[in-house]
Amino acid sequence: MGAGKSTVARVLARRLGTRAVDLDAEVERLAGQSVPTIFAERGERAFRALEKEALAKLPGDAGIVSLGGGAVVDDDTRQALLREGILITLTADPEVLAKRVGRGRGRPLLGDDPRADLERISEARAEAYGEAHAVVDTGSSRPEEVADEIAAVRDIHPIVVPLGRRTYRVEVGRGVRHRVGTHAAEHADGDAILVFDGGEDRPWPKDAVHDLTLAGKPPIEVKLAGDEAHKTIGSVEQIWDRALEAEVDRRAIVVALGGGVIGDLAAFAASTLLRGVALGQVPTTLLSMVDSSVGGKTGFNRARGKNLVGTFYQPKFVLCDVDTLSTLPSEERIAGLAEVVKSAWLDSEASVAMLERDAEALTAGDPDATIRAVRMSVLLKSRIVHEDERESGRRMLLNLGHTVGHGLEAASNYEGIRHGEGVALGLIAAMRVAARLGRGRREETERLTALLDRLGLPTDLDHRLNSRAMDFIGSDKKRRGDKIHFVIPRLPGQTEIELLGLDEVRSALGST
Ligand SMILES: NC(=O)c1ccc[n+]([C@@H]2O[C@H](COP(=O)([O-])OP(=O)(O)OC[C@H]3O[C@@H](n4cnc5c(N)ncnc54)[C@H](O)[C@@H]3O)[C@@H](O)[C@H]2O)c1
Repeated sequence: MGAGKSTVARVLARRLGTRAVDLDAEVERLAGQSVPTIFAERGERAFRALEKEALAKLPGDAGIVSLGGGAVVDDDTRQALLREGILITLTADPEVLAKRVGRGRGRPLLGDDPRADLERISEARAEAYGEAHAVVDTGSSRPEEVADEIAAVRDIHPIVVPLGRRTYRVEVGRGVRHRVGTHAAEHADGDAILVFDGGEDRPWPKDAVHDLTLAGKPPIEVKLAGDEAHKTIGSVEQIWDRALEAEVDRRAIVVALGGGVIGDLAAFAASTLLRGVALGQVPTTLLSMVDSSVGGKTGFNRARGKNLVGTFYQPKFVLCDVDTLSTLPSEERIAGLAEVVKSAWLDSEASVAMLERDAEALTAGDPDATIRAVRMSVLLKSRIVHEDERESGRRMLLNLGHTVGHGLEAASNYEGIRHGEGVALGLIAAMRVAARLGRGRREETERLTALLDRLGLPTDLDHRLNSRAMDFIGSDKKRRGDKIHFVIPRLPGQTEIELLGLDEVRSALGST
């Protein structure tokens, strides 16, 4: 209330050559009553139901819709808006809002002290209001300036990872890495610590230093060896120590620039340094774009196994610049496609069909096809992370293909097989288990195998599934006694988690 949504909607609609729709007016039309009358005679609940109905009736190309803040409090509505549109929260200081609404006439939620009511409502709805493509303060900007800001968000069209006040956005595109400086400055007042790896062959760290410096944050540079063998506490210590030697304080931000190894190490360091400083992720491998940079899992390896120590810690922003993949060895890029296939199968028939259409372009590294694939994967992950941030239920779906994949990796001592290659074979294995247990269809296994093959991923499961690999299946941390949570793919978009006996899985895999 008073944030300026109706005015801004009109200005924006004019600018973009579309219509402005006021949801309250739609509700009034639907009910044949004014909003104050609906509240007075039927109560707020009835109003919310009408509001939901009016929203559902709007066509997909409705234009710029101004919604009362109460409409987005409903989680289903908010998630649908995030998925199908671009959702912007307009805010202003309660003082400003109170001045704008005056005595609050015609505003059923306001009583005698509008300022106090506005403050209470903003506070109560802060979690919901945070879950938007952007939160724009209208306190000291003209409607035209606010419209400019929203138009810019529309062009970028970030993917929202909706986690209440900890919500963040993932930008996917060409050149988006250059926004690292402005984002770092927006999210942290203190020093920037840039963690990266790689040699002269990669211009990305130099770019980041330049962009951070331009934004007033010449970074403290921490160069690590970013391979799996160096995913250790020793590397974390290097980040801690460099930052502490530079006497950073809690307003600092750690920026991870690299693959999943760098991302996981830097994120762990950020989550523990001075009990937690801000974190930004700039992934430079396909795997880290579609998987590790989003979702907040951090960690490092111990002698007993991979990722056994870590935290859950969400970044403030993620910038997936597909141009950085130009220096990535093609085998690494192809390996990352296995996670993309996994995401598509978890997501929908439309996503699998998209990959089938784009297969050759993806293998060749075409930027547009890659952007489509990264967006699809990140959207899926953001939805799952919203539902289950700490992996106590639905997030386990993301382990599709990983039970057998990890077994194959562990059996080869993590040499000679990339993680993505393990996942590709693990996906085929999961399909096979599903088919053998009567949950899936053989045709689906064939369809998946054909897609992986076109993408240049390994499909020779039987060849790799030796007895040592069988022994390693289920030896990871997802095990519960002699049972494991196994992700069963039926059709695209229809996947389930079942607690299966290890023997059952092994025998389903082994029988031909
Ligand atoms: N946190 C999570 O949720 C999560 C999810 C999946 C995987 N992971 C972790 O991610 C790691 C794997 O990540 P990865 O596949 O990105 O591998 P990686 O980080 O080991 O990178 C692979 C290689 O590519 C190099 N590289 C990175 N970017 C490059 C570029 N643009 N150009 C040239 N070379 C480049 C790296 O230096 C490295 O040698 C594993 O440690 C895994 O545990 C974490």
